[in-house]
Formats: sequence, structure tokens, C-alpha cells
Amino acid sequence: MDLEIREEPVGLLNEHAEIPIAFLVDKILEVSVSDRGLGGIILQERAIDVPYVKDYGAIKGEGPTRWPKRFDVTNWGLIAAHQGGTRVGGAVVAFKSSDLEMLGGRNDLAILWDIRVRPDLRNSGIGYSLFRVVLEWARNRGCTQIRIETQNVNVPACHFYARMGCALEGINRFAYPDLPEESQLLWHLDL
Ligand SMILES: CC(C)(COP(=O)(O)OP(=O)(O)OC[C@H]1O[C@@H](n2cnc3c(N)ncnc32)[C@H](O)[C@@H]1OP(=O)(O)O)[C@@H](O)C(=O)NCCC(=O)NCCS
Repeated sequence: MDLEIREEPVGLLNEHAEIPIAFLVDKILEVSVSDRGLGGIILQERAIDVPYVKDYGAIKGEGPTRWPKRFDVTNWGLIAAHQGGTRVGGAVVAFKSSDLEMLGGRNDLAILWDIRVRPDLRNSGIGYSLFRVVLEWARNRGCTQIRIETQNVNVPACHFYARMGCALEGINRFAYPDLPEESQLLWHLDL
């Protein structure tokens, strides 16, 4: 079936929210430090004993419908994927938002804030098609770089970003005090 990728008004974030973002965690990218911290950080894929579902959408007070209340989304972009007249995925790009620390006040930087594909259609190229349009969207606004945050428990997303050509620029083991078992991974792609 034909896949259509198109930009939509951010006012449709409520529809984007209906695509589940949840994923199964059956392995992690274990972050460890060698030689008492002086030998570098090691990132190693490891299966976990008790798999679980991670769902950012289920966290109270979080999610796409909250973003316009928390941030100035005037310049943000919503890229949607439709197949056979049905929404099957989408990506949200944060741009020129003075209240978003991660943008560091830069107008030549975009953040891939969110990307999600309907679970039954994952791994069939929809994420790739969305990502390409996200890059084009950012380039058209004069961006020279796109940045992305993910976590070491999201192994499929890490493989996805690596496959899209992103460079892993940072590992922060202590970014989430409430989730000490998760590490923050920061990626970027020069445009
Ligand atoms: C991450 C996500 C958007 C990727 O979308 P997708 O449509 O499944 O990805 P694609 O099919 O376009 O995959 C493109 C490439 O990514 C890699 N990839 C995607 N899913 C992968 C997986 N589960 N394991 C390993 N590699 C994977 C593959 O290398 C693939 O390239 P290839 O087909 O040439 O091998 C999707 O898995 C998703 O919706 N996940 C849940 C939400 C989420 O975690 N969002 C990111 C939050 S940071």
C-alpha cells in the first residue's frame, strides 16, 4: 500500500499521540566504566532476564498533547506517515523554541523530539521514510545539525539512529535520577 509522508499542523499532535510509542525491552545497551573510570565507557548489548514494555506515553503529564502547554511549539514540525488513509507513524521536530534548553538558543539546530511507528508496521521502512523528510524539513529551515536523545533501554531506536547515519556524541549515566537504571544517549547528524 502507498505510503504518504506529509507535514501537518502541530495542532494535530493529539492524533499523533494515538500511535503507540511503547516498545519491548528485552535487551539493553549496558553502560559500564572500565579501569575505575579511566579506561573509558563501554557500551555492550545484553539480553535482560525479565523483559518489560516501556511506554513513555503512559507517564502521567507527558506525551504529545502536553507539549504545547510546556513549550512554545510555534516553530515545531509534525511529519506524519499515512498508509491506506490511516495514520501509521509520525515524527515531531523541535525548532526555534527559546524555552527548550536542548536547543541551546541555536537557530541552526533541530531536535528530533519524537518518532514513532505503529507497532505492527515497525521494521518495514516507515521510520526511514519519516527520518528522510525530517532531515529535509530541518535543512529547509537552515539547520546544520539535528540532535536526538534516546535511552540505553531502547535498543531498536539506537540501531535505527545508527543506521540513519547518526553519531553517538554523548552518554550520560546520571541523566535520569528517577530512573537510575537508564542512561541517556545523545546522537547528532550533520546536515
Ligand atoms: C524507532 C522506530 C521509529 C524505527 O522505525 P521503523 O519504521 O521500525 O524503522 P525502519 O523499518 O525504517 O528501519 C530502518 C533501519 O533501522 C534499523 N532498525 C529499525 N528497527 C530495528 C530493530 N528493532 N532492531 C535493529 N535494527 C532496527 C534497521 O537497520 C533498519 O534498516 P534496514 O531495514 O536497512 O536494516 C520504531 O521502532 C518505533 O516506533 N519505536 C518505538 C518508538 C520509539 O522508540 N521512538 C524513538 C524514541 S527515542
